Amino acid sequence: MKIYIEENKDLLSLKALELVKEVVVNNPQATLGLATGSTPVKLYQLLVEDYKKNKYSYHSIKTINLDEYVGIDSSNHCSYHYYMNTHLFSHLDIQKENTNIPNGNTVDFLVECERYNTISNLYPRDLQLLGLGNNGHIGFNEPGTSFDSVTRVVDLTEATINANARFFNAIEEVPNKAITLGIKNILNAKTIVLLAYGKQKAKAVKAMIEGEISTGCPASILRTHPNVFIILDRDAAHLLNS
Ligand code: F6R
Repeated sequence: MKIYIEENKDLLSLKALELVKEVVVNNPQATLGLATGSTPVKLYQLLVEDYKKNKYSYHSIKTINLDEYVGIDSSNHCSYHYYMNTHLFSHLDIQKENTNIPNGNTVDFLVECERYNTISNLYPRDLQLLGLGNNGHIGFNEPGTSFDSVTRVVDLTEATINANARFFNAIEEVPNKAITLGIKNILNAKTIVLLAYGKQKAKAVKAMIEGEISTGCPASILRTHPNVFIILDRDAAHLLNS
């Protein structure tokens, strides 16, 4: 696990840009595992700016998103479909059919999870981008999730619902379920890049890096992966021993 501590969110995002760009430039057919939430917004902005400036192509890049809420349509501005189109896909020459996000508005969730799991197995990610939940979750794999978990529908914890309420008009609108890749799917990636900034992430960061490897902090399992980059700002890193 390589740990980088940057001064602030902008520098942290620049470091992540370097890592993502290296993959895209060296392998124009790479598969990227993507996350949503506040954490990667700046990185996506930098990727778009860099794409416009340097014109390298995303035409044959594939993407596999980590998760999607259950019960909201892809056109809903709080859906992760909407988020990805707004922040990234609509600005690149990426082919829509090469982008993958779970369908959270399906009638048969078993079939959808099976379909998405198969895609995830067919296209192992060259790089998996992750944010970190305040409670140590990765994807929507909440504390207590088995490290062998694969794609499935999960109940979101109260902590996650509260943390994500800021994206919705009212807390009652936050879905209480999501489809997520499992921890086993995440660990299939060749390289994992986890970003975390802000004081609210500091406890989870400490548990991930210095706590025991346990399902109590899902992100702690990343310590068993051979190729992980953790990029933090000073606030997120401030409880670490060294
Ligand atoms: C999002 C995801 C989540 C977030 C995490 C942090 O696709 O899988 O694990 O990365 O909840 O969210 P933010 O970045 O909003 O603090």
